[in-house]
Amino acid sequence: MRVFESPQELQQYITEEKRKGKTVGFVPTMGFLHEGHLSLLRAVRPDVDILVMSIFVNPLQFAPSEDLKTYPRDIAKDQAMVEKEGVDILFLPSDESMYPSGYSTYVGEIELSQRWCGKSRPGHFRGVTTVVLKLFNIVQPDISVFGEKDYQQAKVIAKMASDLNLPVTIRTCPIVREPDGLAMSSRNSYLTSEQRQAALALTNSLDYAINEFRKGVRQGNYLIQAMCLYIQTQDNVKLDYVACVDKDTLSPKEHVDVGDRLLVAAYVGETRLIDNKPLTLE
Ligand code: PAF
Repeated sequence: MRVFESPQELQQYITEEKRKGKTVGFVPTMGFLHEGHLSLLRAVRPDVDILVMSIFVNPLQFAPSEDLKTYPRDIAKDQAMVEKEGVDILFLPSDESMYPSGYSTYVGEIELSQRWCGKSRPGHFRGVTTVVLKLFNIVQPDISVFGEKDYQQAKVIAKMASDLNLPVTIRTCPIVREPDGLAMSSRNSYLTSEQRQAALALTNSLDYAINEFRKGVRQGNYLIQAMCLYIQTQDNVKLDYVACVDKDTLSPKEHVDVGDRLLVAAYVGETRLIDNKPLTLE
């Protein structure tokens, strides 16, 4: 596995490889890897010649009040994990190389990214689309893979790729969960054992609403109320939002159907967690 730190050197290397006809798969991450990230690598490894992973804790997508400084990092462990997955190139750019002094260009999607997490975290998606577009320009992937835990993020990135005619196929992979159902997230490492238990309220509230749907409930508002009530009765959990949305437009649904998506965000202590599931009949 080759490690690149310089965006220019990586861009040049990939340009030469692509000229030889090589295809590139790309998994951008912020590191502190878990099985969820590895599942993204496995989803693209067989389909490309060169597999690239980036680890970059992107300062642009954190508000000043958020956890940029404390975001968990363990590059040595991450490096050993991805080496085993057959990653060809690990890209570890510095803040300065991505945003040199005087940097002043941003890209924003302005429909999907206004909703849900976009409301709670103003500027977040602009930071995400800006860094992902920069990374795409450097890595020049044919396929890039994103996890469905960040469901809205995956939709925003796919919309950017389509709106800007980017020559990349965006793939998504299902959420990888702990045995008790908690969605895997690097931020789970912040949780005390008591909070870890409380965090199950997110996935349990989704299951509760899905169960109501399976019993015949079709009013989005009823499902939202049920989830809110469920979460509000849990100690140590503070609701951010609950939504019942169209899986593509992310607009709220009044009358719900199979395939619509339930989204939830909540604070467990200081840690903001998100989760989502589709409405299914089985
Ligand atoms: O999902 C993440 O880890 C980040 O938002 C991403 C896509 C790597 C952009 O910084």
